Amino acid sequence: MTDTKRVFIKSYGCQMNVYDAERMGEALAAEGYQQTQSVDDADLVLLNTCHIREKAAEKVYSELGRIRVLKEERKAEGRALSVGVAGCVAQAEGDEIVRRAPTVDFVVGPQSYHRLPALLERSRAQPGVVDIDFPAEDKFDALPGRTRPGLISRGPTAFLTVQEGCDKFCAFCVVPYTRGAEVSRPVARIIAEAEDLAAAGVREVTLLGQNVNAYHGEGPDGRVWDLARLCYRLSEIEGLARIRYTTSHPLDMTDSLIEAHRDLPTLMPYLHLPVQAGSDRILAAMNRRHAAEEYVRLIERIRAARPDIALSGDFIVGFPGETDADFEDTMRLVETVRYASAYSFKYSSRPGTPAAGKGEQVPEPVKGERLQRLQALLNEQADEFNRSMVGRTFDILLEKPGRREGQLTGRSPYLQPVHLSAPHAAIGDVMQVTVTDVAGHSLFAEPVGSVSAEAPRVAVGGAA
Ligand code: SAH
Ligand code: SF4
Ligand code: F3S
Repeated sequence: MTDTKRVFIKSYGCQMNVYDAERMGEALAAEGYQQTQSVDDADLVLLNTCHIREKAAEKVYSELGRIRVLKEERKAEGRALSVGVAGCVAQAEGDEIVRRAPTVDFVVGPQSYHRLPALLERSRAQPGVVDIDFPAEDKFDALPGRTRPGLISRGPTAFLTVQEGCDKFCAFCVVPYTRGAEVSRPVARIIAEAEDLAAAGVREVTLLGQNVNAYHGEGPDGRVWDLARLCYRLSEIEGLARIRYTTSHPLDMTDSLIEAHRDLPTLMPYLHLPVQAGSDRILAAMNRRHAAEEYVRLIERIRAARPDIALSGDFIVGFPGETDADFEDTMRLVETVRYASAYSFKYSSRPGTPAAGKGEQVPEPVKGERLQRLQALLNEQADEFNRSMVGRTFDILLEKPGRREGQLTGRSPYLQPVHLSAPHAAIGDVMQVTVTDVAGHSLFAEPVGSVSAEAPRVAVGGAA
């Protein structure tokens, strides 16, 4: 018998949920909880949920069904199991979750999880408690520092939320309702967190925000800093070799950020810049507030500043009222831009969003056909981008052991996984490699230089 309590956290949805899960884990660690990868030895199960599409939200209830059975088995054995629901379904559905799934002991929203330990305590006396208030205080102020226990298993990369919420109100999207209004964290807090992470061995941070390039945080000089300025400041932190950020909105892609891509070697040449659709009529109906041509011009300016930049995007097919001609506009835009990678989805009607009430819903089979055609084109472009890497030399950050003995897996500047055999290198090293082959989305490479000067290791031999 042991006193150690174990928590199993399962995250759905976007990278911000992954970040939130890590912070919730840290808050619970302060209460004596260790994380476990298996629901079977957990004393607490926390589902960190996503509300973005219907499928994502419904997954939670099937998972809760399985957990209910486990909880009943435990009860028969005289052992307790606490069940919590966090994340965007928690925010969107609140009490409804407890009504539909009475097995849930507590519900906690993305803005209130700093109160998780107290809520867990309350739920022991009174199961079914719900805390989804958007509190006046900043949750980040109340959370413990970033100690990142078990860093090696997490690798030398970390997410860091710098901005949260969204004021854009795209007609299809639940995020402004689940995450609230746009809020930027103060620069000093972000720097302190990044320094803690770097001290724990992190070499790459991905700055997160629902609208990260709209970042406008209070600087130490009392002025408002934009994302570009923040990236320059983060680049000064010792040990941090790489910076990425996601997700951006085309309207907030400022000149200063484009210049940062030109001038800042730590800012990785990869940009996720969703456009959603290529038809001006649909873009207007989606409330994206720009035309397709403006997006194409923006991409040209970004590429002029950083010619090798890898572009990624999100697309929705079958938005209400989308005709064949509208969809062809999307295909044409993709042909023009040429993406290195992209995500595409069938439109999913979400309760409470403006588009949900629209009459002209596109039939499911039509959505399916369009998605297939779009994905075929996007895959072709991704393959072409990956193939163009063969023979190229660049730095990779080694992130984890590879599948075979002596093998390591890292990431290219363009976010592709790169496998190589480098027996003398270590996780966390930045290493120059030449790409020798490509298979699917993965690259294979050989070391050409030595590990970077900041890394604690000595030179790596040329042999692969
Ligand atoms: N803040 C980011 C990401 C939002 S959610 C952004 O603005 O790009 C991630 C992606 O999910 C969106 O870009 C969109 O392509 C997709 N998405 C959002 N709501 C959706 C819906 N109702 N149906 C289908 N896809 C949706
Ligand atoms: Fe959703 Fe649009 Fe905001 Fe992105 S910009 S989070 S798609 S409302
Ligand atoms: Fe999903 Fe919420 Fe992220 S709805 S995509 S978890 S912001």
